Amino acid sequence: MATGAYQAHRISGQEIHIETDNASVKAIIYDRDLVRFRIHRNDQDFSGFSYAVVSEALPVHFDLEDGASELIVKTSHMKVVFSKFPVRISVFNAKDELLNADDPAFGTSWLGNEVTTYKTIQENERFIGLGEKTGGLDRRGQSYVNWNTDYFGYPVDADPLYLSTPFYIGVLENRVYGIFFDNSHKSTFNFACSNERFSYFQAEDGEMNYYVFAGDSVANILDRYTWLTGRTELPPKWSLGFQQCRYSYYPFPEVLNAARTFREKHIPADVLYLDIHYMDAYKVFTWHPERFPDPKGLLAQLKEMGFNVVVILDPGVKREQGYQAYDQGKEKNLFVKYPDGTEYNGQVWPGWSAFPDFTNEEARKWWGELMKGLTDVGLEGFWNDMNEPAAWGQHLPDLIEFEYEGEGATHKKARNVYGMQMAKSTVEGAKKHLNGRRPFVLTRAGFCGIQRYAAVWTGDNVSTDEHMLAGVRLINSMGLTGVSFAGYDVGGFAGEASPDLFARWISLGAFSPFFRSHSMVNSRDSEPWSFGEEVEDISRNYIRLRYRLMPYIYSCFHQSAVSGMPVARSLAIDYTYDAKVYEGPYDNQYLFGPNILVIPVDSFSRFHKAYFPQGKWVNLYTDEVSEGTREAVLESGKESLPVYVKAGSVLLMQNAVESLLKEKSSNTLEVHVYPGGAGSFDYYEDDGETYAYRNGNSLSRVFSIHGNELKIHRAEGQFTSHFKTFRVYLHCSDASSLRVNGQEQNTKAENYRFTEPISDFDPYHVPPKDPIQIRDLRYVDIPASPNEISISWNE
Ligand code: GLC
Repeated sequence: MATGAYQAHRISGQEIHIETDNASVKAIIYDRDLVRFRIHRNDQDFSGFSYAVVSEALPVHFDLEDGASELIVKTSHMKVVFSKFPVRISVFNAKDELLNADDPAFGTSWLGNEVTTYKTIQENERFIGLGEKTGGLDRRGQSYVNWNTDYFGYPVDADPLYLSTPFYIGVLENRVYGIFFDNSHKSTFNFACSNERFSYFQAEDGEMNYYVFAGDSVANILDRYTWLTGRTELPPKWSLGFQQCRYSYYPFPEVLNAARTFREKHIPADVLYLDIHYMDAYKVFTWHPERFPDPKGLLAQLKEMGFNVVVILDPGVKREQGYQAYDQGKEKNLFVKYPDGTEYNGQVWPGWSAFPDFTNEEARKWWGELMKGLTDVGLEGFWNDMNEPAAWGQHLPDLIEFEYEGEGATHKKARNVYGMQMAKSTVEGAKKHLNGRRPFVLTRAGFCGIQRYAAVWTGDNVSTDEHMLAGVRLINSMGLTGVSFAGYDVGGFAGEASPDLFARWISLGAFSPFFRSHSMVNSRDSEPWSFGEEVEDISRNYIRLRYRLMPYIYSCFHQSAVSGMPVARSLAIDYTYDAKVYEGPYDNQYLFGPNILVIPVDSFSRFHKAYFPQGKWVNLYTDEVSEGTREAVLESGKESLPVYVKAGSVLLMQNAVESLLKEKSSNTLEVHVYPGGAGSFDYYEDDGETYAYRNGNSLSRVFSIHGNELKIHRAEGQFTSHFKTFRVYLHCSDASSLRVNGQEQNTKAENYRFTEPISDFDPYHVPPKDPIQIRDLRYVDIPASPNEISISWNE
């Protein structure tokens, strides 16, 4: 049954209600370019409660025309047309171009309780986003299911995985739109898969409740989507450093040993993980008495060495009387139950376990209180795993019940939001105890809005080249759904990476928003030094490069926090209408921040296909320029990942420290200028660890470049920059002098290196491998005055 013929309509505030023969259609004007549709049969009634949405409709002006066959709603940026007989919906942009239209026959229809909206497929329509979904960048011809799933060693075309974000962006010839289906039941998105008539989104049950974004660019839609569902908060800076995980480091000397090795080998790192073996019999909120007899002492010692520790927190609470967490949860009635009131138990690491009902505020608070025991010993980082929720055998019974903020819901509705609510509980608990310091939370499962609470990683990937490249696409796709802080297990979780694969993967990981190496129990050692000296050198090179890029990277995270622009940007964001960026293998490529083009390539070939989008691109290591809108074949050995910088941009860097947590960089900010175009970069700085920025204790500064002039705009904000000197490097130029605020100044020359030569144990390979050409890079040092500074030069 589909939505029937028009009967009547009325307006209340921002809402237009249309009654049809058999359904009620509500359009809520959320913003000038955002409309929400709520459609249900007359025999259904739904509340307005959403875990995903954090913003309310804005009071924007709209006009309504009531015609004989159509009802037309117009804002300054969008038009919605409801045909009346039957009621079907079409949405147009500000230029009156069609964005999407219901299939004339099926529109929104029901099959039992299953509800579907069918949209006519348009010529050359592409579909991007949907978060953690395998496959190519353009999802046309595929269909996907949203149902949070624990999938160990998943194949690279598996679906569904751990995280569900039912939001996608449609790309037409010269325009874009977004659709967010806010329904947490198991849902299916079909993008003209097995048919050429329509795309659709469908849920097993619940309301047809979706938002259409009519913004004029992908970036603009992401901004609106993250306005609606929230943005990634500024993470603590230390969490942007290198993170070393292992299933599992234990007993405690193993952890110390890893920490010491990083320092001895001068490989920067900020985080070590404790996986499930730190606990006593895998009981959450306990420590194994022999393996970790003195957690507080250990954490203090590690902090002294510049390491923070992140511990795993799984939701399953061992069913064991006398164990505090279990006893309390049972007594307070906070575990998930069967409809007959008995406790639901599933098997996970600790054996039979109960599951806190994270959709119950009381349970979230209780969990948060238990975390005090962890923050008290010095922890600031937490890793939520198995929160799909996972249980051996996978299929949790659908009838189990959740509190769902007082509304009540079965597993069918609650599953997809469970992990997100666990992350919420964890981050809120941590914040409460950390006295103004920012915590770090990592999660495996989530739903739309998860970006507000945690970073996400792509679960149990496999040590293969295709997994490495698929992981890049997963991260880029998550970035297209508001999840900025995301990463994969570098080296692969299951299986064992070859040295070459690890080398490639860690170079790539240095350009991933979340940068962590992790591997499975009972597999080979997988620390950066475990694959021989050559790989160790490559690892050190790229981890260092990441640390040196921290002023740039941190600014990109700030950008995410204010506009939802992801840190790893699929090329579909900036080059939306360039068909090439959707072609494999180019659809793996992305911009890391606005200015760095990363070309992910496999670990076994020496020659790689690449695509340079519009503009000019400067090779990071050699300063060689490649023209844009061109395909190319690049030669690159394992020692150097193809990375390019956009001409007409700046890269802001510092010297390499070994721990962001402990060490301050020098007071010199390296300003790498890449002329050859126009652009600007929003630099941001604050203390990197507290919320003082919310009270204005931050600094923003625009670096803009135009022709042969760099302008460092006046610094805004109350934070006093750590940097006292700007060392301005002029790439692609041999200017022997330049003008600083009109005053002539001579440049100096430096043999600059982004990466160091790597040791060579290959007797056939002479001379030693050097991924860069050393060159004379011109630079000047100038005082980092907060006033506007202009720097100009001749060719
Ligand atoms: C799951 C996680 C993995 C972790 C393991 C043991 O498989 O995805 O990262 O190491 O559980 O806790």
